[in-house]
Amino acid sequence: MKKIGVLTSGGDAPGMNAAVRAVVRTAIYKKLEVIGFLDGFSGLIKADFQELDLSSVGGMVDRGGTFLGTARVPEFTTLSGQKEAVETIKRLDIDALIVIGGNGSLTGAHIFSKYSIPTIGVPASIDNDVFGTDYCIGFDTAANTAVDAISKIRDTASSHDRVFLVQVMGRNSGMIALSAALAGGGDSVIIPERPWTIDEICKNIKYGQKRGKKHNLIVVAEGAGNINEIATQIKYQNNLDVRVTVLGHIQRGGAPTAFDRNLASRLGHEAVIALKAKESDKMVGLSGREMKLVDLEEVVLNKPELDDKIYQLVKILSL
Ligand code: F6P
Repeated sequence: MKKIGVLTSGGDAPGMNAAVRAVVRTAIYKKLEVIGFLDGFSGLIKADFQELDLSSVGGMVDRGGTFLGTARVPEFTTLSGQKEAVETIKRLDIDALIVIGGNGSLTGAHIFSKYSIPTIGVPASIDNDVFGTDYCIGFDTAANTAVDAISKIRDTASSHDRVFLVQVMGRNSGMIALSAALAGGGDSVIIPERPWTIDEICKNIKYGQKRGKKHNLIVVAEGAGNINEIATQIKYQNNLDVRVTVLGHIQRGGAPTAFDRNLASRLGHEAVIALKAKESDKMVGLSGREMKLVDLEEVVLNKPELDDKIYQLVKILSL
């Protein structure tokens, strides 16, 4: 193996740059050349790339976003798109590939096994919904951003005796919501993985009011339902002053936390080491304190379980 390719794909996640930096510097340390493909799988299809050396990744450990660019590329799901990508890989004499991204990107990475191209995936998604790793790159930073916002909202909520619903990202996953509710002291959390009712939320609000609580903070995962409809129902059932805040893409930006930089550096490094060890069609993940390899097949066919103890803990601590 002489030359490897690396790309970032799907929604950007803080720490992707630190992962690319680790890939490039480990690869060069191991005497490999590195090509960075631009805008995810689109760079492979269009042969849009840049050669990466030690300096190309200078100053990248703390930079948010991804300097390689990223995209969701429907074209790569077609046979002709895949063939063009494989053609680029062959033409550039690339021996192996590292794909950094979430579920969709890792599904794309798995496709290369059909074409016998050694590939290793690196989990990066603020949603933290990838099977086979305790954490994905970017989740910790996004959760911290959400917690910071919730603390600020609490100040104004309690000044005005208001109920606030704060929507966080996560697609179909409630991981950010759960983490933000626990760390941010949310009074209720609404996530797609658990059933919930308006009556139950209203009961919580009344319970808080009885003990003199002036505000109520409800953290809502974007996949759990329409936040404006939930707010309207709460408002009219209880005659309360209700406000909605949608945090949106602010959660995807910013400098990665130390946790995400460390995770990204370790995963990026391990991905190169795995390729050197002739591993393929696997993802590097974090299990406890250790790095481990998981079959991409297993990764793409499964969904991680939400920790019910944490869900129950949010309820207990918000009493
Ligand atoms: O997967 C990351 C994520 O930020 C999700 O939480 C969110 O649902 C989605 O991407 C938003 O995608 P886009 O940036 O394409 O609107």
